[in-house]
Amino acid sequence: MNNFVYRNPTELIFGAGQLSHLPEKARQLGSTVLLVYGGGSIKRSGLYDQVTAHLAEAGCRVIELPGVEPNPRLATVKKGIELCRQERADWILAVGGGSVIDAAKAVAVGVPYDGDVWDFYLRRAVPEKALPLGTVLTLAATGSEMNRSSVVTNWETQEKLGASTTFPAFSILDPTYTFTVPRDQTIYGICDMMSHVFEQYFSHTPEIPLQTRFAESILKTVIENAERVLEKPADYDARANLLYCGTMALNGTLPVGVETDWATHKIEHAVSAIYDIPHGGGLAIIFPKWMRYVYRENVERFSRYATEVWGIDADGKTDEELSLAGIEATEAFFARIGAPTRLADYQIGEENLDAMAEKATPFGPIGNFKQLTSTDVREILRMCL
Ligand code: NZQ
Ligand code: ZN
Repeated sequence: MNNFVYRNPTELIFGAGQLSHLPEKARQLGSTVLLVYGGGSIKRSGLYDQVTAHLAEAGCRVIELPGVEPNPRLATVKKGIELCRQERADWILAVGGGSVIDAAKAVAVGVPYDGDVWDFYLRRAVPEKALPLGTVLTLAATGSEMNRSSVVTNWETQEKLGASTTFPAFSILDPTYTFTVPRDQTIYGICDMMSHVFEQYFSHTPEIPLQTRFAESILKTVIENAERVLEKPADYDARANLLYCGTMALNGTLPVGVETDWATHKIEHAVSAIYDIPHGGGLAIIFPKWMRYVYRENVERFSRYATEVWGIDADGKTDEELSLAGIEATEAFFARIGAPTRLADYQIGEENLDAMAEKATPFGPIGNFKQLTSTDVREILRMCL
């Protein structure tokens, strides 16, 4: 196991009815709040009315940044920064999915920064200060509710980049808010959280049994609950288990002491930067192909994945055969839940393979399980066509 330092300051407030904690949290963070939300799902579900009522109860003045796009845009973030400065916001409340939370994080670190907030995403600067941020999560997927990452798209330059920004001070996770998540977004969320585990599970770091079993537990729990929520979107326990899995997959628990990979995420972000496809949909296509491209680097790890996660019988099989059986089980699962399986599902052909391969590797080769150059990335993308 490698050395590590682990700290996660986000207070997680989980369960049905837990929005009742919002007034007490709001009073702690200040009297003027920027409320950040997306394209209207929270208005349709009635959550907007509940949140604004709780903020009023706490005596908060509310200013609003509505309309955050899925794959949030830098221009929207900049609008939020201006609003916060003009109105002297004390804190930010994000109500929505990962896109809304990521945009809110960017605003939070952009407000006290004199330069361009995009500097953080280009790795030209590191955020030192941030406005406090709270979140009310409505979609199980990214883990943004309990980590410091933010992923933003600069549509003018067609770049989608992640930055380390700020942890939410608190996140309220009520599984009933995820009942209305459409079927396709539920599927993308499932693929995204599984991919987060894969990025941290496929590692060469030896002697990491606890991290390994944590990762396998999350994968098995997602697999058990995925079809339940797709059959019955208002199954509270299945939604609750998925929601908690999404958080645990990317809140810093899994990578401690482990060399992680993240190449597949960078490849997906390059595809989304050009084609604006849903993140989880892109990952469902790319991850199994990445697995096929790299598994020979460590067949023991891949054969363990097959037996522990998918319950494949190891009897009489070589590590190579087991590895391939695990990858096939992954592909079959994604297909069974209705995830996209090829770039053609999004009408993406070979026209931009070179451009995407370059965009995936802006700072040089990516990944650790196998280091990938832009040529490797191009080959993986070609396998996805
Ligand atoms: O915009 P609204 O109207 O709210 O609708 C959203 C959006 O259209 C809808 N939705 C969300 N909750 C709903 C709902 N519809 C009905 N009922 C609800 N309860 O779902 C659509 C997608 O929302 P979005 O926030 O984009 O989805 P997700 O949570 O999957 O976030 C994806 C973004 O997060 C980034 C991705 O790249 C992508 O930009 N990621 C962020 C990470 C992080 N910060 O740690 C890590 C991830 O790997 C990922 O890269
Ligand atoms: Zn992801």
